[in-house]
Amino acid sequence: PKVTIVGAGNVGATAAHIIASKNLADVVLIDVAEGLPQGKALDMMHMLSVEQFTVHVTGTNDYADTRDSDVVVITAGIARKPGMTREDLLGVNAGIMKSVIGAAMEASPNAVFICVTNPLDVMTTLAYRQSGLPAERLMGMGGVLDSSRLAFAVCEELGCAPASVTAWAVGAHGEGMVCWPRFTTVDGTPITELMDEAAVASVVQRCVKGGAEVVAFLKTGSAYYAPGASIAKMVEAILTDSHEVMSVCAHIDGQYGIDDLYMNVPVRLGRGGVEEVVEFDLDDEELAALRASADSVRAGLANLPE
Ligand code: NAI
Repeated sequence: PKVTIVGAGNVGATAAHIIASKNLADVVLIDVAEGLPQGKALDMMHMLSVEQFTVHVTGTNDYADTRDSDVVVITAGIARKPGMTREDLLGVNAGIMKSVIGAAMEASPNAVFICVTNPLDVMTTLAYRQSGLPAERLMGMGGVLDSSRLAFAVCEELGCAPASVTAWAVGAHGEGMVCWPRFTTVDGTPITELMDEAAVASVVQRCVKGGAEVVAFLKTGSAYYAPGASIAKMVEAILTDSHEVMSVCAHIDGQYGIDDLYMNVPVRLGRGGVEEVVEFDLDDEELAALRASADSVRAGLANLPE
């Protein structure tokens, strides 16, 4: 298979590296910066004998080279710096997303598209409106990362093994993020039964603030290792038709009482993209929190240029 990654910056290149290391697909890195994708691709190919992968990574500035990709990942755009929210990136990144989605789609009309550029929910909606792609073939990466940050906080708090943890962070990929402690389990037991309320609140905070914590340390940009790994996980689920359920920014069409909105929800992924939005059995409070998160996404959409 063939995966195109638009944007050969920190996130795009890291995703390319992980996809190649796992031998999942040939990867084409494309960027507006001349030489950057070519240089990073060649650098990755120089690992070939060390990492023993058989796929090819190539770099280009020409969409012709991305033709007939199975999956297209869009990471093009600016990242936040300390003090910025993801929403502050809207103006610049909206222009970039508009130009990228058309060119990428023309080259790979049958691909599954994964948006990564922030503010995620708004950018994924923009790509959806701009492209006219069927909703099942257009999604965003946010929830896998957020859930992984929640799982990390749970592991730190309880000292448990990562394989024992299933974590769910859903809703807006931003300040309006929602965690589901009742469905976040260690060996099947909800963390609400393993920690007191204060500890649950603290792991939730570590998840919601995880991205900002990384930005505060780095000062020059935002996270990319965990985002790159999260992209690779989604790409793997799609290419292997795994039917795995994970938190994905998908088009919600009536589920959870939410209409026509892109936001992270549990989704079954397969070769055709989003197979279904999975409805968890939420209580009234959880449902209200998810709908409030949806409202925060709608507020962001109001700022979207026509
Ligand atoms: P970066 O600055 O390292 O890389 C961005 C790349 O995009 C640059 O190489 C730039 O030349 C390229 N680019 C700009 N305009 C382009 C265009 N029109 N076509 C092709 N390439 C273009 O930034 P980084 O750290 O890789 O982040 C990329 C985006 O991903 C940001 O918007 C960031 O906020 C977002 N992000 C989203 C996450 C998520 O969970 N959804 C997690 C981490 C980052």
